[in-house]
Amino acid sequence: MNLPDMKNAKKRKETKVEYKKHIYEGPLFGTNKKYYVRTYGCQMNVHDSENIRGLLESAGYTESSDIKTSDVIILNTCAIRENAHDKVFGFLGVLNNLKKKNKNLIVGICGCMAQEKSVVDKIMEKYKFVDFVCGTHNFNNLLNIISESVKSKNQQIEVYSYDGDVIEDIPVKKDNNYSAWVNIILGCDKFCTYCIVPYTRGTERSRKKEDIILEVKNLVKEGYKEITLLGQNVNAYGKDLYEDYNLANLLEDISETKIERIRFITSHPWDFTDEMIDVIASRDNVMPYIHLPVQSGSNKILKLMNRRYTREEYITLYNKIRNKVKNSTVTTDIIVGFPGETENDFEETLDLVNTCKFDGAFTFSFSPRENTPAMFLKETVDEETKMDRLHRLNKLINEYSNESNKKLLGSIQKCLVTGISEKDKNKVCGYTENMKLVNIEADEDTIGNIIDVKITDTKSFSLDGIHVK
Ligand code: 5AD
Ligand code: SF4
Repeated sequence: MNLPDMKNAKKRKETKVEYKKHIYEGPLFGTNKKYYVRTYGCQMNVHDSENIRGLLESAGYTESSDIKTSDVIILNTCAIRENAHDKVFGFLGVLNNLKKKNKNLIVGICGCMAQEKSVVDKIMEKYKFVDFVCGTHNFNNLLNIISESVKSKNQQIEVYSYDGDVIEDIPVKKDNNYSAWVNIILGCDKFCTYCIVPYTRGTERSRKKEDIILEVKNLVKEGYKEITLLGQNVNAYGKDLYEDYNLANLLEDISETKIERIRFITSHPWDFTDEMIDVIASRDNVMPYIHLPVQSGSNKILKLMNRRYTREEYITLYNKIRNKVKNSTVTTDIIVGFPGETENDFEETLDLVNTCKFDGAFTFSFSPRENTPAMFLKETVDEETKMDRLHRLNKLINEYSNESNKKLLGSIQKCLVTGISEKDKNKVCGYTENMKLVNIEADEDTIGNIIDVKITDTKSFSLDGIHVK
């Protein structure tokens, strides 16, 4: 048994990161058995689930969309806010009932919640039916953990709190064959005071550029049209590994592979260099979509959050991006109700939104997280005020995203068609270069292709369009 220890995160620089290759030469113990993976949280987790599915299939398992007929059920969890926890514990109640009917069912927890001491304690005490908990740093070892669970009836807790290695060649079962996630940097060293990610995902570890470029070249050969480079802070790429190779250089090298669309998330304003802006502006296959979380418009709150920039520095960077990258879209993340946020601080956030006129934003109410410095701040904001601020902020954000969408009315946009529209089964849907969702009148066989779409109507969160041949 290996239990998580969140306090270790602060001593992380003592750990040497190792680059390893995944090897599994064990038996195909999943033959004729089915698995179900449920994913919570960010794109990093969505991609980890592709690896989890790849691992399970390499042991012979096949995927099922029905929990009732599955032999293994894995929850790939998120710890970013309390409501992510609530969803997982709620679903565990359903799985407890299933386990009562099927004694051979294996239930496992992976992902960020597995790295939290309080979660693991709770599972050991109150959720004894959970067969295993496997951490984010050792999920490549999942098959050994599952095969052990099949053999023994003891709950297994395998969560490592060292900063983790970089493991290449983990099997992957991708969600589709036109758009792929590509990890470039794992972990985060920023330690924003509200955020649990540095504790659950470990230190910043860049993948080697050769491994990333080879992966993209292979994706191009397989016919992929789009890749999204992933990291908690992609702009820190290379800093831990190279003296003079950074995200700008990586984007240039990846651009040369001729993949049609390159995206990258998430950017921290602190590490965003002019060189990166120039590459985004000059390379046609680097998409002009930048997600640039600001979190707050108040310098006092930004300082308490340890964001390392001021409101003025953010706006300068924002304007530079807008001026240099033509037709750019910039979206952001904002937290309301951080401890100490007064009405005046909140109004500074509204004012910043009025200055930047973001194309879109993800907005959140502050949620205290285990062991993070913000959890210990005394001046908390009450729930009612938080909800009121969230409501006022969303209203403003929606006005600007509506405005941003309206500008596209009548224009022709290049869209990568990703599937059947959820709104109208007779339409397909896809994303513009600026990452706007479009419901499109087009043949189903356009799925997986980049097509020209005339925008015929706009709403707050999506556009309507028609395929122009
Ligand atoms: N409470 C509320 N929102 C949070 N985020 C991260 N941690 C918290 C928290 N404790 C938000 C930030 C981040 C996004 C992924 O989630 O805005 O950018
Ligand atoms: Fe969390 Fe800040 Fe790192 Fe983003 S940059 S993952 S908000 S600590």
